[in-house]
Amino acid sequence: MSLARREFVAGLSAAALAGASSAIRAAGEPSLAERARRKGLFYGCSVANQLDKDPAYAAAVAREAGLLVAEFQNQWQYLGRKPDGATDFSAGEVVARFAAAHGQLLRGHALIWFTRLGDPFKQAASRAEAERALVAHVREMCTHYAGRMQSWDVVNEPLDPFDGGPDGLRARGDALTEKLGPDYMDIAFHTAREADPKAILVLNEAGIENDAERHERQRRNLIGLIDRLQDRRVPVDAIGLQSHLRTGRQSSSGAGYGAFVPAKFERFVSEITARGLRIIVTELDVFDGGSPGDVAARDREVAAMYADYLAIILKPKQTLGVVTWGLSDRYSWITGGTVDRFKRADKLPSRPLPLDADLRPTPCYAALAAAFDAAPSR
Ligand code: XIL
Repeated sequence: MSLARREFVAGLSAAALAGASSAIRAAGEPSLAERARRKGLFYGCSVANQLDKDPAYAAAVAREAGLLVAEFQNQWQYLGRKPDGATDFSAGEVVARFAAAHGQLLRGHALIWFTRLGDPFKQAASRAEAERALVAHVREMCTHYAGRMQSWDVVNEPLDPFDGGPDGLRARGDALTEKLGPDYMDIAFHTAREADPKAILVLNEAGIENDAERHERQRRNLIGLIDRLQDRRVPVDAIGLQSHLRTGRQSSSGAGYGAFVPAKFERFVSEITARGLRIIVTELDVFDGGSPGDVAARDREVAAMYADYLAIILKPKQTLGVVTWGLSDRYSWITGGTVDRFKRADKLPSRPLPLDADLRPTPCYAALAAAFDAAPSR
């Protein structure tokens, strides 16, 4: 990042943080949802299972988010079962009802994900049985939520940069490719389109934003996969870029995460839009493990990462909106302590999201607000 940009963000952080703090209290100030909406974009966040347990947090979600996505409640493996064996949608419905009550859009995550497959698929003994299980699941989810989902992540994280699977697809230990080969994507997207013709159908992918060997391979494999899916007329409407970013520069070879290089990323984005696809930023957050412990310095680097990333991704008209993976550091997979790679060496709690653990806006709130304000209208 250039020095000028760093200073801009630093200045913005201090001033806008004060503004944003009062913004969240002052009735007249626009929320993130409103700032995005003014440009024809949306801003939303994922929510786990705290909406009906933490009123202060729920109020912040109601105010700031224009779209909600259930973080895990709609995943195949986690769907509840009623005594008669029927699917229990109640956990996901808490989120859907909250969104409806607050005039928020709703998006679905994720119909097919190799790591969250349901038993009927995992236990399928033949190709025909696996296909039947996949079709039944996608059809049931899409039918249940039809007319309510703005978009669905139909397939989540299909690619693996080093597996050498067909089309760059994940192969080792992936029941999807083992049982159905690359066709599982065609089946999932066609079934989703049929069951809910209005939802935007998204292919969602991770680990693709940085200048690292594994990310470069993901980018090339994704573009190749898009071309093959489009040749076969598979109804993919949008690419979801998860956008789990991190501060600092890590090794760019092997499993390293590299660093964010705006020009390189912008070229990749233009390869997607040139194929007539739209883009959704589906899971944005910034792990601050590469930044110093000092909170002000750390927040500046996180906010700068948000600013640099959003400046690129909000430029094309094909970008529909931004979802952060959580709203507050109070509830985040990064701060939750269950994922080893998100532990800071100094053991300090991370600060990845627009509101801190006390629901106060952080400098990255200000960066998001400024990015929406600066985005071209669509
Ligand atoms: C994380 C969630 O935050 C957790 O609640 C979940 O148990 C594990 O995964 N890519 C995805 C998300 O598509 O579903 C992941 O979310 C983060 C990485």
